[in-house]
Amino acid sequence: MFSPALLFLGVLCSVANAYNILAFFPLALKSHIKPFQTLLYELARRGHNVTELSSFPPPDGLENYNYIHVPHLFNPVNTVQWRNTSYPTLFGMYHAMCLSEAEKVLTHPDIQSFIQTDQSHFDAIIFEGSFCSESFVALGHKYGAPMINFQPLGYWPTNYFLFGNLQSPASIADYRLLMGTRMNFWHRLDSLWFTVTEFFLTYTSYYPKQEILMDKYFKYRGSNTRPSMMEMLRNISMTFVEHDIAFGLYLNLSVPTLYSLEACT
Ligand SMILES: *[C@@H]1O[C@H](CO)[C@@H](O)[C@H](O)[C@H]1NC(C)=O
Ligand SMILES: *[C@@H]1O[C@H](CO)[C@@H](O)[C@H](O)[C@H]1NC(C)=O
Ligand SMILES: *[C@@H]1O[C@H](CO)[C@@H](O)[C@H](O)[C@H]1NC(C)=O
Ligand SMILES: *[C@@H]1O[C@H](CO)[C@@H](O)[C@H](O)[C@H]1NC(C)=O
Repeated sequence: MFSPALLFLGVLCSVANAYNILAFFPLALKSHIKPFQTLLYELARRGHNVTELSSFPPPDGLENYNYIHVPHLFNPVNTVQWRNTSYPTLFGMYHAMCLSEAEKVLTHPDIQSFIQTDQSHFDAIIFEGSFCSESFVALGHKYGAPMINFQPLGYWPTNYFLFGNLQSPASIADYRLLMGTRMNFWHRLDSLWFTVTEFFLTYTSYYPKQEILMDKYFKYRGSNTRPSMMEMLRNISMTFVEHDIAFGLYLNLSVPTLYSLEACT
């Protein structure tokens, strides 16, 4: 069966020289990184030199694997309080959580020291660029390397727009609305309102605030020549989407999709 993940491994493995790969996951979101960590271990097993910055150590004895431990700073959020709120309030709460958690890790001395002083050479950088971490895309500029994005939690209209997919909120409901595929007129209208709200708040408030974080916390030699955050996000080289029928609908998207689900306890 065709698998984009295997294709990705195949492409990287078809080169004679091993790649130096940075996986930058400073936000301690275990259920987000776990489904993708297997790919990182496999890249190292196939001879690539993988450097992972995260709070979740790899198994013992992996060769070609450099692990940079950062403290677990993420505060679990009680998302029950997000239910039954209006869409503007819901997106406001989600954006506020992302911005405060991103700023918390970016101010940590270990992470600042890595951003400012690390002089390694990386051929590719893997990050979670479309979930609370948009500002981290600056690393692609720092290292002059293509950015590969691991996106958790299925189809999100704003992210897919960024990746170049067409939007059709009246016929494809965001899975967060729990509508299924049989939408009546009111469902379609509701889905349209949800998507318009998300777009408006993301583009007018959330992305500009992530860009402020980027300008404040990603200072390294040459950072003054950096393109805008939006230009760099649109320039992400590849996105892998974690998607499962258990929390979403079948979607035919123009990005590689990993049909997998990982539960976090
Ligand atoms: C949300 O509203 C529904 C219907 O009004 C209600 O049954 C449910 O208990 C509410 N959930 C929360 C978390 O307040
Ligand atoms: C592997 O990556 C680490 C961290 O960037 C670097 O110190 C080391 O020199 C690299 N090894 C090779 C063989 O490129
Ligand atoms: C886009 O990414 C490529 C490398 O993948 C890089 O050479 C180019 O400078 C980037 N452009 C922008 C605007 O970030
Ligand atoms: C997905 O979309 C592509 C291109 O639009 C099409 O060729 C393919 O048949 C579609 N696959 C399914 C399962 O609908």
